[in-house]
Order: sequence, then structure tokens, then C-alpha cells
Amino acid sequence: MGTFFFRNRPELELLIRLLNIKAEASALDLTILGCSKGAEVYSFAYTIRSARPDLKVRLRALDIDPDVLKVAEEGLYSLKSRAPGQTFSSGSVIPGEDLATKTFGDQTSSVFERMSPEEIEAMFECKDEQATVKPPFRDGITWHLGDAGDTKLVNLFGLQDIVVANRFLCHMQPQQAETCLRNLANLVKPGGYLFVSGIDLEVRTKIARELGWVPVTELIKEIHEGDPSLRQDWPLEYWGLGPFDRCRNDWDIRYASVFQVGVALSANAHPKIAGERSEEMFVHGDH
Ligand SMILES: C[S@@+](CC[C@H](N)C(=O)[O-])C[C@H]1O[C@@H](n2cnc3c(N)ncnc32)[C@H](O)[C@@H]1O
Repeated sequence: MGTFFFRNRPELELLIRLLNIKAEASALDLTILGCSKGAEVYSFAYTIRSARPDLKVRLRALDIDPDVLKVAEEGLYSLKSRAPGQTFSSGSVIPGEDLATKTFGDQTSSVFERMSPEEIEAMFECKDEQATVKPPFRDGITWHLGDAGDTKLVNLFGLQDIVVANRFLCHMQPQQAETCLRNLANLVKPGGYLFVSGIDLEVRTKIARELGWVPVTELIKEIHEGDPSLRQDWPLEYWGLGPFDRCRNDWDIRYASVFQVGVALSANAHPKIAGERSEEMFVHGDH
């Protein structure tokens, strides 16, 4: 399954639309859980910085694996397009190995394969097949070693405008994934958004219903199909995603990868993109 820069483009497009709804917001608290080698974190940071250079972004990134977290924090990657002969079944990278080995970790394809050369140039300083994330896309990021299921996270991070929990809950047994998802949803401010994909759809639907999350249906099909590796791996791998089926009665809650949290009973719940969001969403004025 691995990780990639610009992994799901429609997801990033939705992020921009959500940010643009409240053009007057001056700050954003964003947490990305299961951040792996940082590709997702820097993709979000780049997207936000490009779309809303005015926004003060406090981005917290967390992973349970200290080795991948170190790679993420360094923000230095190999531009080689092929993995070294060696791969690791444990899923962890080995500290001290050369940059290509650290960059590829347990995946065989490049983290850059979904980026154009122009995007790589815009986001990285490149030299001798090495790419370092440029300072504007690293500023404001703090890196944390921890478990997304830790009930103390909300005390540590505070409530967030947006929480991202992509592609790690699928590796848990359903009961464990449910508990973790319920817990990490507590991090989201009332009216804020939870991005959650790469999870068993039955688990996500069950918790979304129980907790009254509002599915964001804007770009729902595009986002569901927006990560080729997940769609292509269905039905052979347990993390594979089946086709989008709009004939189902529950299509909106089943296929949504983004939810507005804590507004189900409020007049502020939006019908489509959460356009009429709770006024709690985002910060007005610096703090
Ligand atoms: C397949 S990668 C996904 C990376 C990234 N979210 C993406 O979508 O490209 C899964 C990552 O989740 C991390 N992870 C697994 N369980 C976790 C947990 N309970 N808390 C935090 N991170 C976790 C793993 O260490 C790994 O780096």
C-alpha cells in the first residue's frame, strides 16, 4: 500500500474547497495521523500553502513507527525511480541505510510517481537525485511519535479543524479500528472535518451513523476512486476498495471519505459540502 506524494488528487481538491468556503479564517489546526514518511503531510502542506498563503497553519503529524517518522521529519528523499534490490517485509525502514532504501522502505514504487516534474521542482530543492522539501512547506509542522488510538491525544493537541486518518485503520481488526476511529474523532472540533479512507467500509459506516457524522458528498466518487493503488488492489487485497455503487441506498455514508463531525443535529450541517458550516470551524483572528 505504501505512501505517495499527491496520492489522491480529488481529496486535495476538496481540501481547497473547504478552505475557500471560509475565506476570512486566519488559522487552521490540522492533524494528520499515520503520517508515515511524510508524503501525505507535505502534500497537504503544499496544497494549503499554494491555495491559501494567508492562512496560519499549525500542522501536527503523528506516526507510531519511529523510523518512518524520522524520515518524515527530515523531509529528504531519493529521486531514484526504482527501489534498491532489498525490500523489508516488516514495513519499517532501517535507520542508517542509504537514502534510497529509507525513501522506498517497504514499497517498490517511488513516492514521487504521482507528481509531475514541474510539481517536484516547485515543492523540493533537488540536487544529485536527492530532493529536500522547501522551507515554506515545512514551516509550522510538528512531528509526534504516538498511537492514533491514544485517548490523551486531545489533551496533547487540542481540538482540530481537520483530522486526517488515511490508510492505516484497514490494518486493524474491526473492533480495534472502531475503537481507534471513535477516539480520533474526538480530536475534531464541532463543525470540523474528518478525512478517513483506507478503512473497512462497514466499520466506517457503522461509526459514522452512530456518531451522526455528515458525509461530504462533493467529489465523493472522485475521491473514492482517486487512489489508484486501493482500487486496483480490490478484491485481492484486504485493503482494496470495491467500485462506487450509487444504486445503494446508503451510497453517501458508505462511500464518503470526508465527514463533518459534531453538527448532525444542528442547522449548520451542510447538505452537500458542509458549506454552511458551524461557526466553530477555523479560527477567526490570531491566537
Ligand atoms: C500505509 S501507511 C499510510 C501513510 C499515509 N497516511 C498515506 O495515506 O499515504 C500507514 C502508516 O500508519 C502508521 N500507523 C499504523 N498504526 C498506527 C497507529 N495506531 N497510530 C499511528 N500510526 C499508525 C504506520 O506506521 C504507517 O506509517
